[in-house]
Amino acid sequence: MSTAKKEYKRVTVKSLVDMKKNGEKISMLTAYDYSMAKIVDAANVDVILVGDSASNVMAGHETTLPITLDQMIYHASSVIRAVNRALVVVDIPFGSYQSDPKEALRSAIRIMKESGAHAVKVEGGQEIKESVKRILNAGIPVMGHLGLTPQSIYKFGTYTVRAKEEEEAHKLIEDAKLLEKMGCFAIVLEKIPAKLAKEVAESVSIPIIGIGAGNGVDGQVLVIHDLLGITQEFNPRFLRRYLNLYEEMGNAISKYVDDVKTRDFPSDEEQY
Ligand code: KIV
Repeated sequence: MSTAKKEYKRVTVKSLVDMKKNGEKISMLTAYDYSMAKIVDAANVDVILVGDSASNVMAGHETTLPITLDQMIYHASSVIRAVNRALVVVDIPFGSYQSDPKEALRSAIRIMKESGAHAVKVEGGQEIKESVKRILNAGIPVMGHLGLTPQSIYKFGTYTVRAKEEEEAHKLIEDAKLLEKMGCFAIVLEKIPAKLAKEVAESVSIPIIGIGAGNGVDGQVLVIHDLLGITQEFNPRFLRRYLNLYEEMGNAISKYVDDVKTRDFPSDEEQY
């Protein structure tokens, strides 16, 4: 296995499989709007996920369940306009693919056609296999998502680590193999033991991208608001914050308020 880093002018689903083969880790980050996506893309992030976490960090909902297909398409099309290099993957939101495969395909087609996205992501394995098949048959690349799947939060009851017990771990490995066999190009594994995640990554040839799944997988994904420290109340062990933007932005905005109140802003140079 070579560890030489190849330059990718444009990341495709094939590039990700090549990265896994070459031992190059895949970087993935969420973005939901044009300005943020421009920064993320320019920083050479390989995959931008327009996650349904937009429901939490953009809209302030407690879960990912309320976001609609129209809202996801709005976020995705804003991101697409900013991106030159990254592969853009869009979550199909809750309620738009689980009930029947035809609806799943219609939702995936709307995302691809109306936003210009490059791929879609769905949560689950065996239970949604007919929907996944239908989308793949239409030539739309599909990323899977196993482990803690936030669209099923009311089934789990909590956001704690999944697949600690043998039975759930076994099902997760089988689901990963099924998604690979059907033709998914990658799988997100969320909040499962690192040992299990490594075992999954070694059992399939498609890339496994982890969030709270340790270092033995093929890439990592985080929600950008968490990485930048814009969110304050979310503090899982897996999260590394690179900035405290909540504080820095707050300080800048307070300074602006002061400058307006004290008539310091605008100065002579800042007017016509
Ligand atoms: O919606 C999202 O941001 C996600 C990531 C947490 C993987 O699915």
